[in-house]
Amino acid sequence: MALYKKRILILQHSSTGVSAKLGRMARGHLEAAGHKVRVEAIRPRRPLPYLLNLIISFIPGVSLPTLELAAKLEDFDALLLIFPKWTFAHPLINDFIKNQSRRLPPTALIVTCGGWDEDRYLEGYLRKLREARVPLLGGETFRRKSVDRGLATMILRLKLRRWFS
Ligand SMILES: Cc1cc2nc3c(=O)[nH]c(=O)nc-3n(C[C@H](O)[C@H](O)[C@H](O)COP(=O)(O)O)c2cc1C
Repeated sequence: MALYKKRILILQHSSTGVSAKLGRMARGHLEAAGHKVRVEAIRPRRPLPYLLNLIISFIPGVSLPTLELAAKLEDFDALLLIFPKWTFAHPLINDFIKNQSRRLPPTALIVTCGGWDEDRYLEGYLRKLREARVPLLGGETFRRKSVDRGLATMILRLKLRRWFS
């Protein structure tokens, strides 16, 4: 008999630490619920300065190459993808979805943001995954302030329980 319920991969991109903090919180909740969890960062092949990232993120659908993951997607029962809202497009997440969507297990999305137009952004990524026929568990947005002030904990726990039980 397995010692854990599900093998869950958390993949995150975080440039100022908000998404990474949510990733750590999610790992804690999921492990406490009996899952086996691995966390890995989605990293650019060539890191760019803030201003270039900002300019590029205005181009819908833009993608920039990411480094190969150490984790094998096939080894997991579910995926939690956490990333920040970048204007209209997140080039690293676009690259990841473009290249890996056929191999993704049931997937949930968390988008962190400053607080501008996040629902439409999340919906756009859910649509992108749906069109790529990725089995979807759900999605949620978290504002930076609510993560910084610890207000995200309760909603995060409820969402994780719904997506991964
Ligand atoms: C290039 C760039 C574009 C951004 N665009 C938006 C935006 O359109 N709407 C918003 O609410 N926040 C925007 N933000 C703020 C981030 O989404 C927010 O601070 C997020 O929590 C940062 O997550 P991180 O610390 O994991 O990188 C942007 C940040 C960057 C760096």
